[in-house]
Amino acid sequence: MTDFARALHARYAMPAASPDPAAEWAAATPHPVVDSLLRHCSVRAFLPDPVPEATLLSLVAAAQSASTSSNLQTWSVVAVRDPDRKARLAEVTGGQAHVRECPLLLMWIADLSRLDRVAEVTGVPADADRYLEMFLVSVVDAALAAQNAVVAGEAMGLGAVYIGAMRNRPEQVARELALPPRAFAVFGLCLGRADPARPASVKPRLLPSAVLHHEQYQVDTARERAGFARYDSVMREFQASQRMPAADWTAQSSSRVRGPESLSGRDRLVAALAALGFPLD
Ligand SMILES: Cc1cc2nc3c(=O)[nH]c(=O)nc-3n(C[C@H](O)[C@H](O)[C@H](O)COP(=O)(O)O)c2cc1C
Repeated sequence: MTDFARALHARYAMPAASPDPAAEWAAATPHPVVDSLLRHCSVRAFLPDPVPEATLLSLVAAAQSASTSSNLQTWSVVAVRDPDRKARLAEVTGGQAHVRECPLLLMWIADLSRLDRVAEVTGVPADADRYLEMFLVSVVDAALAAQNAVVAGEAMGLGAVYIGAMRNRPEQVARELALPPRAFAVFGLCLGRADPARPASVKPRLLPSAVLHHEQYQVDTARERAGFARYDSVMREFQASQRMPAADWTAQSSSRVRGPESLSGRDRLVAALAALGFPLD
């Protein structure tokens, strides 16, 4: 088996002779960029070594190279290195230790405030900024940019993990980062050298056939449920290999979306966004 095929099989925890047609197709087209994407795993244990400014600039250049809706570039990023600020932000996330420990925390901002400042220059009001569409544009832009930074960072030997828990308390995060109105921290991203003593592993995914449809969305319920059962057992094994409590993916996922109480405060996001200048009309 080639290294590429091995990486693909690890991504899906597949036996060597895979019955999944989409995976077999992908195995036939090895590529170094895809190979590196297949090896992604979130890193939550970092060495304290600082991330040099030149590396940060490379990450930002990679992020700015992502596509951006209408070239509006409706995102910004705040690089946080100050230990006290990281500690306060870690507290917002429910005390996630990696937020404190990572040498570099990048906060990705859906940022319509720059267009407000452009409006001051042109004298043309930016009234469309209050609509849900423009909020979505800025969130998508920020996410695409961040993922480019993750891919670049991993290519440069850094580890990364997104921190969506920054949305637990958006107003507090906005104050911490001195964000102007119409700027919202979508998520954080911990970056740094992975601690080799606490290595991360590739987390298997649902098989490609679970997410790939041809021409139209079709669900074969029996096949899908068989896929869930297979993935539950794959994830139980993965959790055990990580010395984490065994849990079915279906049960964990259901619990994550059980109700507003499972959203860690994010059930009030609409009100928080309104307070930050996003009425979402
Ligand atoms: C938008 C987003 C937010 C996330 N938030 C957190 C978080 O707050 N804390 C954390 O430890 N991991 C977080 N993660 C990481 C996911 O848990 C992780 O990507 C997922 O379990 C798959 O594992 P992998 O990235 O190692 O493949 C987040 C990922 C994304 C994409």
